[in-house]
Amino acid sequence: MEQEKPLPGVYYRPAIPPPQRKKPTRCLCCLFSTFLAVMLGLVILFAVLVLVLWLVFRPVYVEANVRTATLSQFNLTAISGENGLTYNLSAVVDLRNPNDRMGIYYDSVEATASYEGMRLGFSSLPHFYQATKNTTTLYPAMSGLSIISLSSSEFQTFELQRRAGSFDVTLELRCRIRFKLGSDFRTASTTMRVRCDMALPFGLPSRGSKCDVRW
Ligand SMILES: *[C@@H]1O[C@H](CO)[C@@H](O)[C@H](O)[C@H]1NC(C)=O
Ligand SMILES: *[C@@H]1O[C@H](CO)[C@@H](O)[C@H](O)[C@H]1NC(C)=O
Ligand SMILES: *[C@@H]1O[C@H](CO)[C@@H](O)[C@H](O)[C@H]1NC(C)=O
Repeated sequence: MEQEKPLPGVYYRPAIPPPQRKKPTRCLCCLFSTFLAVMLGLVILFAVLVLVLWLVFRPVYVEANVRTATLSQFNLTAISGENGLTYNLSAVVDLRNPNDRMGIYYDSVEATASYEGMRLGFSSLPHFYQATKNTTTLYPAMSGLSIISLSSSEFQTFELQRRAGSFDVTLELRCRIRFKLGSDFRTASTTMRVRCDMALPFGLPSRGSKCDVRW
């Protein structure tokens, strides 16, 4: 290349040095922005996919009701200075899958009874598959003796409920579930919790009550 001779009396700015040192940074920067763009694209794609799946399948919560429950034993006894609670609880619970396009695999179902936040006992129920628009009836039952510690106000509550002849007992179902979408797509498993707060008349079948379902 032929260099031009500087004209006299004309001020030439020094040539700007080529941005050699900045080159790697710029490349890294452009790599980073490409990465960001790809990630953003993936996130949007994923969101659209989830929206489409949601629109197609319209998932609705399972409905759970206690048809009836019986507390045939609920007696507090002192066992070497502690409170022992003898209990015998059996329930009939209806689980309805209201979805049109989602079947549900219940891979494990565990029922727990508790009183005043204290766990009394639990029982495992058989696993099953629930087709769309189908109702499955479960029969959790448990009995035994549980050592519980009641504060004086909880003890008073127990006494009040005993005199009233009705105890506030909570039944919970913890289910590991998977959804079946279409004919053969299965989702990863998730936990569904069913909570039934019941007022159970001692020794008599209770009336029905609704349960709270979340997953
Ligand atoms: C258990 O408690 C109920 C009332 O809560 C009472 O009627 C019944 O007699 C008690 N049973 C025993 C064995 O103490
Ligand atoms: C619990 O009560 C049921 C009836 O409600 C009875 O069949 C069962 O034998 C009782 N179990 C125990 C351990 O008392
Ligand atoms: C519910 O499922 C059972 C077996 O899984 C089936 O026999 C029954 O017909 C189904 N009920 C409805 C209403 O689809």
